[in-house]
Amino acid sequence: MSYQHEYQASIDHPQAFWKKQADKIQWFKEPSQILAKDANGIDRWFVDGELNTAYLALDYHVLNGRGDQVALIYDSPVTGSKRTYTYSELTEAVARTAGMLAAQGVEQGDRVIVYMPMIPEAAIAMLACARIGAVHSVVFGGFAPHELAVRIDDAEPKVIMTASCGIEVDRVIEYKPILDAAIDLAAHKVGCCLIYQRDTKTCDLTSGRDLDWAETLRHAQPADCATVKATDPLYVLYTSGTTGKPKGVVRDNGGHAVAMKYSMEVVYDMQVGDVFWAASDVGWVVGHSYIVYAPLIAGCTTVFYEGKPVRTPDAGSFWRVCEEYGVKGLFAAPTAFRAIRKEDPDCALAKKYDLSKLKTVFMAGERLDPPTYDWVIEHIQRPVVDHWWQTETGWAIAGNHMGLEPTAVKAGSVTRPSPGYNVQILDSKGKPVGRNEQGSIAIKLPLPPGCLPTIWGNHDRFVAGYLGTYDGYYITGDGGYLDDDNYLFVLGRTDDIINVAGHRLSTGEMEEVVAGHSAVAECAVIGRHSDLKGEEPLGLVLLKDGVDVDEDTLRQELVQRVRDQIGAVASFRDAVIVQRLPKTRSGKILRKVLRNIANNEEYQTPSTIDDPACLGEIEQTLSSKGLR
Ligand code: COA
Ligand code: AMP
Repeated sequence: MSYQHEYQASIDHPQAFWKKQADKIQWFKEPSQILAKDANGIDRWFVDGELNTAYLALDYHVLNGRGDQVALIYDSPVTGSKRTYTYSELTEAVARTAGMLAAQGVEQGDRVIVYMPMIPEAAIAMLACARIGAVHSVVFGGFAPHELAVRIDDAEPKVIMTASCGIEVDRVIEYKPILDAAIDLAAHKVGCCLIYQRDTKTCDLTSGRDLDWAETLRHAQPADCATVKATDPLYVLYTSGTTGKPKGVVRDNGGHAVAMKYSMEVVYDMQVGDVFWAASDVGWVVGHSYIVYAPLIAGCTTVFYEGKPVRTPDAGSFWRVCEEYGVKGLFAAPTAFRAIRKEDPDCALAKKYDLSKLKTVFMAGERLDPPTYDWVIEHIQRPVVDHWWQTETGWAIAGNHMGLEPTAVKAGSVTRPSPGYNVQILDSKGKPVGRNEQGSIAIKLPLPPGCLPTIWGNHDRFVAGYLGTYDGYYITGDGGYLDDDNYLFVLGRTDDIINVAGHRLSTGEMEEVVAGHSAVAECAVIGRHSDLKGEEPLGLVLLKDGVDVDEDTLRQELVQRVRDQIGAVASFRDAVIVQRLPKTRSGKILRKVLRNIANNEEYQTPSTIDDPACLGEIEQTLSSKGLR
């Protein structure tokens, strides 16, 4: 099938195109209306269709003779354990867990927060919610109590599903104190927490609130698959916005299931029985889409890995897992390969393993820098596919479509728009620009199935943040250009979001935490280039008048504040005291120039600047501290 033909069909006749894709999944009631506006005027797919996402991921395969095929492989170097689940076993575990939730009063539409390490019970919890039509909201295990509390208050869950601990290489992270602190901080009171006790470290349960997961499960009856509407929410996943309050990206059931099935074939070239490994975490969108839902809906085997690319135990673990399970498609963030490269520059460890089943390496989550791309190509000798997407879309906006018509790669490009995505580059007035001209990357409406229809509990924020800027377009928040061959080049965010080791973080949120310190009058947090993590945050701090603090002590306190309130995952390690922050005459901090200075990039002094001399001072301060 030619890419051009498929892409054009998706843009010219979206309803016919997506009806054909929708016919490939098993509906309880087939949709007759393919695309319609909802009460908010938002395009919705398959509006009168009915289905169940967990059924598609599990029962469907059992009923079609794949019950004995391995559905999920758990590989945990941090605990030294491995376990496999066939489709039958996983279906049974999910049905019982769904029954356990129902017994706690969880009903269709209720929210359940899943705050879990990378153990199979995390996937089981997600699928169990889907089975009974409850809405899961997974919170990444590396987030601190305050972040969990914010999500509790926004999602208002009936139940929280969690574990006694997570394991970071050789460090045990106790979850119970984090859970207790978050529940204390939150205004919404959660009546029930189901706690999975791990052998590594168990925890005491709070009586009247906490239940032992395994014990409760023993008494649970399996629950059947509920029938949900295509437009009913499957999950809410919080992601960083430009303000301190994260945004709850809503994913519906119908469009998501169709998009997951389609993308497994077209983007990743995965067929029934193939082994797919997304080396990420269920706390991120990659984990939702490509550890849990898509591989299972496609009838593949998914690898569930509790470890790091390095140090668990060494930089050969990716290659070991690929050999051991016959991985055909490996998906990870570029930072993971940079970490491997740092420890094993000649990739000697890969030579120890048989990688003959590995067909393609996929990367996303942050910019793929050419040296990392070249290194993987040189040593692994497989196609490397850079593809670009975001929590909001749930699947690739652009990539090199391995199941369609793979094409020649251009350095620095994420290749071509995926079918369904009418990608346009707009100028500041919202007019499409010419080829090779930079602008804001936007998607002409309608968005394809799978993309968000709203922000949980805050539709105005969805409209204001994504749709309100340019009439008829969704803005991605990334800037870039399309070249003469319609290849897309993503140049980075146009807002204050940074990508640290493939993790999306808000500098605005870090600024709120830093500014909360009693000595700080004002601050700016910017993304500074990091060879390993892509970007790392740097705080520039202006002290309150008359405050006298030692810079090193202040830095340590600020680092601890960010760890306590956002989490270690923010990788906030550097803060410097400055005498002034560059501002416009109307008082807005000029963060872009600060980024340019910290990254040794050329910049032009903005005409709106209040006091240009301030820039030289910042340059000097950062240089003197070795921060540029
Ligand atoms: N629970 C608790 N803490 C966590 C955590 C979790 N799930 N995940 C990360 N952290 C902690 C780390 O232990 C570390 O703590 P420290 O500052 O006390 O050492 C901190 O958060 C930063 O973590 P990370 O950015 O992962 O750095 P690292 O040095 O431990 O590892 C890499 C570096 C590159 C190996 C790692 O970032 C990695 O594997 N990246 C891939 C990311 C990825 O898959 N992203 C998903 C998008 S596809
Ligand atoms: P997240 O929502 O966490 O997946 O982060 C999405 C953001 O990560 C995007 O808006 C981009 O800024 C960045 N991103 C993701 N994939 C890529 C990629 N392949 N190339 C460049 N940036 C990327």
